[in-house]
Amino acid sequence: MKILVINGPNLNMLGVREPEIYGSLTLEQIKDELEVYAKDLDSSIELEFFQSNSEGGIVDKIQSAYNVFDGIIINPAAYTHTSVAIADAIASVNIKTVEVHLSNIYSREQFRHSSFIAPKCLGQVAGFSNNGYKMALYGLYCSLK
Ligand code: DQA
Repeated sequence: MKILVINGPNLNMLGVREPEIYGSLTLEQIKDELEVYAKDLDSSIELEFFQSNSEGGIVDKIQSAYNVFDGIIINPAAYTHTSVAIADAIASVNIKTVEVHLSNIYSREQFRHSSFIAPKCLGQVAGFSNNGYKMALYGLYCSLK
């Protein structure tokens, strides 16, 4: 089972960026933790990680996942609240996708309460910090196997 994990803009700054909101782990540490979790869950899971600060880069990556990946986990970061292009890309490739947010976007500013991406997804996990990626992987795994 091949799963693509996409992280959007400014998530490369985790560890430094507003740790009181996003936690103290770096993206690299979150990646390592998810690799260990995936191996324990099922050794046949293969993860690929991609981070981009650009909307077009994320759209290109989603398109290139067509017929290659079985599932996508995406934290679209700020593009969650603005990107019709990323939502359309997810809808185009017909790959089960789970949206993740480190923070609880619904307890924050009003502009973070809506997602263009979530309606195209299997589900959304928000507010569980780095553990949200593991929860998303478990949910995706259960719905794919
Ligand atoms: C985020 C929430 C977004 O509103 C924000 O723009 C991010 C991170 C999260 O993981 O909590 O960059 O997606």
